[in-house]
Amino acid sequence: MTHRENFGSKLGAILAAAGSAVGLGNIWRFPIETGRNGGAAFILIYLACIILLGMPIMMSEFLIGRHTQSNTARAYQKLAPGTPWKWVGRLGVFTGFFILSYYAVVAGWTIEYAILALGNQFSGQTAQDFPRIFTEFSSHPVKPVAWLIAFILLTHFVVVRGVARGIERWSKVLMPMLFIIIAILVVCSVSMPNAVSGIRFLLYPDFSKVDGNVVLNAMGQAFYSLSLGMGCLCTYASYFNRKTNLMKTTAQVCVIDTLIALMAGFIIFPAAAAAGYGLSPDDIGPSLIFITLPNVFQQAFGGLPWLAYVFSVMFYLLLIVAALTSTISMHEVVTSYMAEEFNLPRRRAALIETSASILLGIFCALSFGALKDFKLFDKTIFDIFDWTASNICLPVGGMFISIFAGWYIDRKLFRDEITNGGTIRAPYFKALVFILRYITPLAILAIILNQFGLFRL
Ligand code: PHE
Repeated sequence: MTHRENFGSKLGAILAAAGSAVGLGNIWRFPIETGRNGGAAFILIYLACIILLGMPIMMSEFLIGRHTQSNTARAYQKLAPGTPWKWVGRLGVFTGFFILSYYAVVAGWTIEYAILALGNQFSGQTAQDFPRIFTEFSSHPVKPVAWLIAFILLTHFVVVRGVARGIERWSKVLMPMLFIIIAILVVCSVSMPNAVSGIRFLLYPDFSKVDGNVVLNAMGQAFYSLSLGMGCLCTYASYFNRKTNLMKTTAQVCVIDTLIALMAGFIIFPAAAAAGYGLSPDDIGPSLIFITLPNVFQQAFGGLPWLAYVFSVMFYLLLIVAALTSTISMHEVVTSYMAEEFNLPRRRAALIETSASILLGIFCALSFGALKDFKLFDKTIFDIFDWTASNICLPVGGMFISIFAGWYIDRKLFRDEITNGGTIRAPYFKALVFILRYITPLAILAIILNQFGLFRL
């Protein structure tokens, strides 16, 4: 077997996993889903999904990956040779390819916005100007496609350089910076005049709006935000060393990811309320953060234009980085699978994934402009990709992962992995296995079947 790289340090491992989890899912998608699904009640269901579904499944992915030290499809083959379980790994590879293709569209938008910020283009614009700026850009026939390609190439470049040198080094410096700047923005946003209705929206749950659809969306968002259900964290865990404490890492990643999502909510909604954009579902689309945020910078630091400039530049640059540490992790799932399963040089495997994702991504990029009227079930190409990947592919992947970990994996092996060969305590062992066996798979199944009308919750 060829020698596989490891993350060089514990912190590196946590930050790389957190880097995968924290991304546009937290800052861009979480506020949209919260807005569309009614606010605080959605957030509470989301939190329940993180604890009940997300954490156990994340543990399972870590365990499977670290034990087998393989790409996600091989991992199942090693633990369950000659069985169809390898298809769970393969579903993950497919989902990774799928998500990268549309995720990179929004990631590309962040490049455009970083450039606008660098060129001081937001200065002097009012709350009314930002929606127009966004629509003009996103429906442009060339620009979003160009940025999509640029973003995937950037990802390609890091992935080709390998795990420790590429992924780990980047994550270590940039993740903490992102956290600090987001915290500052929260303070600015909640102290804007008229921010109150945005804050209320986030704090007072209205359960009368909750239906099966809201629950499905909350579950999808939890999987999406934690990068769960597609073997991404399983692949990263294959680079963990034997001393990494899997439970602690799980808890840390979940806390960091959830905090950043909540903070993003506390930036966007108060700011949207202050700008008078409204919080109704019709106002909330994929564009939300690209409209409210530039406005926050102008409003909050309006008296000090240089500060508005510095903040907007830093924010969009860091958003690029947050997106990049996530696209790297999706790309890595596909690349390591192809390189190891088809015996390809890593570089060639990466190139195939890069080209395929660019091709598919172009359709998604154009679905805000040239292909905007092309709809299925009233959803654009972009929305179909997003909905299918996060509400179906990831939870279904997660369901099989939990069945695999709960029912198939040998108990002793399971215990050995989570206790690092008996060196750390795991008093939660029995509860975890119980949850993985009964609670997670049944909950996911019920939520999905409910959506298709095959079961009534
Ligand atoms: N978790 C990432 C985010 O929040 C998105 C992602 C999904 C990454 C699935 C990898 C796998 O942006």
